[in-house]
Amino acid sequence: MSVTQQQVLSSLARVRSPRGVALTDAGVLSPITVNDGKVFFSINVDAQEARAWETVRAQAESEVRAIPGVTTAMIALTAERKPGSAPPPQSRGAPGVRPAAAHRPPHSPSGSPMSRQSEIPGIAAVIAVASGKGGVGKSTTALNLALGLRDLGLRVGLLDADIYGPSIPRLTGLREKPELTDERKMIPLERFGLSIMSIGFLVEEDTAMIWRGPMVMSAITQMLRDVAWGTLDVLVVDMPPGTGDAQLTLAQNVPLKGAIIISTPQDLSLIDARRGLAMFKKVNVPVLGIVENMSYFQCPHCGTRSDIFGHGGARHEAERLAVPFLGEIPLHMSIRATSDAGNPVVVSEPDGPHAAAYREIAARVRDQLQSVIAAA
Ligand SMILES: Nc1ncnc2c1ncn2[C@@H]1O[C@H](COP(=O)(O)OP(=O)(O)O)[C@@H](O)[C@H]1O
Ligand SMILES: [Mg+2]
Repeated sequence: MSVTQQQVLSSLARVRSPRGVALTDAGVLSPITVNDGKVFFSINVDAQEARAWETVRAQAESEVRAIPGVTTAMIALTAERKPGSAPPPQSRGAPGVRPAAAHRPPHSPSGSPMSRQSEIPGIAAVIAVASGKGGVGKSTTALNLALGLRDLGLRVGLLDADIYGPSIPRLTGLREKPELTDERKMIPLERFGLSIMSIGFLVEEDTAMIWRGPMVMSAITQMLRDVAWGTLDVLVVDMPPGTGDAQLTLAQNVPLKGAIIISTPQDLSLIDARRGLAMFKKVNVPVLGIVENMSYFQCPHCGTRSDIFGHGGARHEAERLAVPFLGEIPLHMSIRATSDAGNPVVVSEPDGPHAAAYREIAARVRDQLQSVIAAA
């Protein structure tokens, strides 16, 4: 039996907002995605009202889960506060009573109810792999880095949070839909000794493309928390590219122990990397370092190295910004070919130079996380 959007809307009409109107009339719902029994949407409210809405979110979730045929309901409360936004109009509250929010001190980023969620039980360190723009090799690096950490004896998970273009299904050859536990948590797929979850396992790539900022947040939060990750030393998160609002909210809401910035040597991409650094700084997430990907061209035939993009920019930039330089990965045919074949280079050529380079980067990352991992 396939679930329809209309069924979801009818069940949501039974849920009341804090002001008494039906949830469907409150003007807070994002577009609703229904896909093969999986329902995704977010409830977008003002940050100041988020607490009052949490029960509404929970009610909405249980209503949707009760629809026959629904296997997963990912519903998140996303709080957005427009800069300089006015407090809610008096007319919407009780007459003569100022909204509670008006008595609170001015909003601070670290104090909002939605910021900086709690740790995820069982996971010692969540780290983000980020880049200013797409196509710089973020996903390739995230996967091979995760494998490098695995080779160091760590228990590693990989979360593909790149909702705009999930590529971990292609890079790992995984296609199955995750099963659910009795507690309705999604069970991550296992491949190469990694626990892997991707939004691409749940929705088609073109569906993912149309998701708006708050939806991104909503889906990622649930992929972190409604997944039975088990015990992990490190969860590597392949972030959506860019340094916009969606990424900032994400960096703010995911309990990150650190971030790794991927850059290519071209100037443009370095400028984007600088934005990434600034973004993580803003939300107090330590930058574990910069990786220079496609650092130089290595001829697959003769092994000759050519610095076609003017190599070394990322190392120099890292020094200038006083963040660690984690290493460089050459632009090499076999890195691309193995990725596209769903058989990453650390697995397919474990004794080769590329695997060694990724393991070296992994060791530098592990060293920085040592205290957190050891404490777990
Ligand atoms: N070091 C590399 N050498 C060769 N090809 C690479 C390298 N890193 C990434 N690629 C290729 O570049 C393309 C983009 O990489 P991807 O990891 O998907 O980037 P992003 O996640 O930043 O969009 C893919 O086809 C990938 O195989
Ligand atoms: Mg990618």
